[in-house]
This record gives sequence, C-alpha cells and structure tokens, in this order.
Amino acid sequence: MNPAQPFEIFLAAPPGLEADLAAEVAEKGFGPTTQHPGGVSFMGGWREVQRANLELRGAGRVLARIGSFRAFHLAQLDKRSRKFDWAAYLRPDVPLRVEVICRKSKIYHAGAASERIKRAISETLGAPLDDTAPLRLMARIEDDLVTFSLDTSGEPLHRRGYKEAVGKAPMRETLAAMFLRECGYDGTEPVVDPMCGSGTFPIEAAEVALGLLPGRARHFAFEDMAGFDARAWAAMRAGDPPRDTALRFYGFDRDAGAVRMATANAARAGVDHITEFTCQPISALLPPEGPRGLVMVNPPYGARIGNRKLLFGLYGALGEVLRTRFRGWRVGIVTSDGGLARATDLPFLPGATSVAHGGLKITLHRTGVLR
Ligand SMILES: C[S@@+](CC[C@H](N)C(=O)[O-])C[C@H]1O[C@@H](n2cnc3c(N)ncnc32)[C@H](O)[C@@H]1O
Repeated sequence: MNPAQPFEIFLAAPPGLEADLAAEVAEKGFGPTTQHPGGVSFMGGWREVQRANLELRGAGRVLARIGSFRAFHLAQLDKRSRKFDWAAYLRPDVPLRVEVICRKSKIYHAGAASERIKRAISETLGAPLDDTAPLRLMARIEDDLVTFSLDTSGEPLHRRGYKEAVGKAPMRETLAAMFLRECGYDGTEPVVDPMCGSGTFPIEAAEVALGLLPGRARHFAFEDMAGFDARAWAAMRAGDPPRDTALRFYGFDRDAGAVRMATANAARAGVDHITEFTCQPISALLPPEGPRGLVMVNPPYGARIGNRKLLFGLYGALGEVLRTRFRGWRVGIVTSDGGLARATDLPFLPGATSVAHGGLKITLHRTGVLR
C-alpha cells in the first residue's frame, strides 16, 4: 500500500459507546464513519491519524490499517511479509513488538505466524523486535486474510498526561468525556461533581469549555514512526489559543486526599483557574452561584468499594439533595448497580447507556431538567 493513499483508521471505543464516538468523529470533521462492535472506522491519512489522537475525547486508541493480503499457509505469510514495505511506516532504529491473532484461518498458530512476521521485519528493515517495546504492530489473520495495523497511540488515550494522582476507582477520561456528551454537555454550562475523586468529570468538562485538545500534553506512538514530521506536528498540537470562559467547574469529595489529588490534577491540566475542589460530604452540597448546568457523578458502587447496604443510604441521600436543591439542573449518574440508581428516586429518562468497563457493566442514568 502507498502510505500517501487513504487507509482505514480504526478508533477503539468501549462497547456501548460506538454511536457517541461516531458522533464525535463526525463533529470533528473526519470522513464518514462505519460503526463496529468496539469501535468506529473511517478513511484517512497520517494527518487524520494525528488529529484523531490529538482531538478525539472518546477514542481509546487509534489504529492505522496499513495493509492486508491473503495467506493460506506460513510460507506464503513469510513471503508476503518480506515483500511488505515496512520502511514506509517503521524506522529501523525503533524497537517494535508484534501481536498476532488468528481466527477461522488455515494459519491457526499465532506464535508461528508472529515468528514469520518478526523475522521478515528484522531481515528486511532491520528494526529490533522486542516484546516489551512500546511501539506495536498488530496482525489479524481472519478468514485467511492478514491485516496489519499499527497502534499509533501507544499509551491508551484515556491517559491524557495530567493525571498522576488517582483515587480508588477513577473514571477513565475517555468514558467521562462520552458520558458528558451523552448528557448533552457541550462546554457551555457549569458542571458539578459531588463525589469527584480524582476530579475526572470537572477537569474533562473544563477542558471542553476552554477548547483544550485532550492530547496536547502527551507522547504518541506515531512520533516514533517513519516519515514523522515533527514541525508539522508541533503546529497541529499547538492548536488554537484557549477560549475564555466565565464558567466554573466544581468537584466535592468527603475525602481530603481525593480533593488534594483533584486539585493537583487540575493544575497539571491547566484548568485550575476555572475549577474549584472542596472537601465536603454530599449532605452539605448546595448549587453554586451562577447559571444552572449539569451534575455529573460516579458514586461508589458495591463491587468496587463500600458495602451495598450502606450505599443505599448514600444514594438515597444524594437523590434527596439533588431533587430538593438542584431544580433547573440536569443529572447524570454513572453506576454499575441499577438498584442503587433507583434508590436516588430521581426521574431518570428511558434508554440508559451501558458500557463494559473493568469487568463490570456500568450504566449512565440521566435526567432531564429537574423541576
Ligand atoms: C467512584 S469514586 C469517584 C471517582 C471519580 N469519578 C474519579 O474519576 O476519580 C467515589 C467517590 O465518592 C466519594 N464519597 C463517598 N461518599 C461520599 C459522601 N458522602 N460525600 C462526598 N463524597 C463521597 C469517595 O471519597 C470517592 O472519592
């Protein structure tokens, strides 16, 4: 394949959030998308790969499908892998790891296939192969079709680069961003998280309000690939200057350590001038002065922290505070436990979104404007 031609770009999404990610991709001006279980794809080139890594809040990683061919046996895989133009994508001095998956194919032994591909790369390009290398080539052999994809992200994209401090059960930034989007958040209203932990929701919301690019502060695997143009990338990454906003983003937590973490994370993200984190239990929560907006919260849930019976009391108290003090606000609650969500007695809209996350199914329960 000619690297100047458009190729398929695959964005990994948590199963359940494909449609939200497709909406974000369309909004950011990328080409028409196709949804798959666990992701979204569109056609583009290296500029789109870089922009997707830099700008998309909901993608877990960005894969570039750099080529495919049929192979019915290992000798054919070996020969075609040797003919592949690795130098168009990979540098001979950057270590690489190769991961192979075989499905419904005559080549069924992933280890043997991996060994052939690695040898082809090492003997034609000379790049060192190392199973611990950050740069990753993925080969999928399905129905005798071999597809090579490069993981252009490296570290998963929820690692925005600012969160050194995390609490017991942090929400992934990519999930937080998609849940905010599901609640209609577009950067034009305040957000309150009454149980903010490491501050993911207020920080993510503040970044959107300021127009900060989620990938502005981190390294990407594509920076170590062949043909990478550091100057063009620096210009893209610089983006537009942050917008001004009068909005504020609030996080509360009864745990002083969580509040310290959230404060430090917000400072590293460069949003500390518009975020406020306060040590306070849910019982003391009041709506902030100024416009109404969105309460976004991910309370503790039994399978991870705390005891379910006690949690019924906590969710009940949360619901009571929101129903009585937050008229005019909308609420989004993320939890793995539908019973606990119902214990808030909040008027949730039908059609909750569920997502597989860390072995659990977590669900976003949303309200309209509370009356
Ligand atoms: C699942 S964690 C939230 C994680 C957060 N979304 C993040 O990304 O880091 C739940 C948080 O609720 C806090 N919490 C529990 N009971 C509380 C209460 N009564 N009032 C305020 N915060 C509470 C805990 O200290 C914990 O930080």
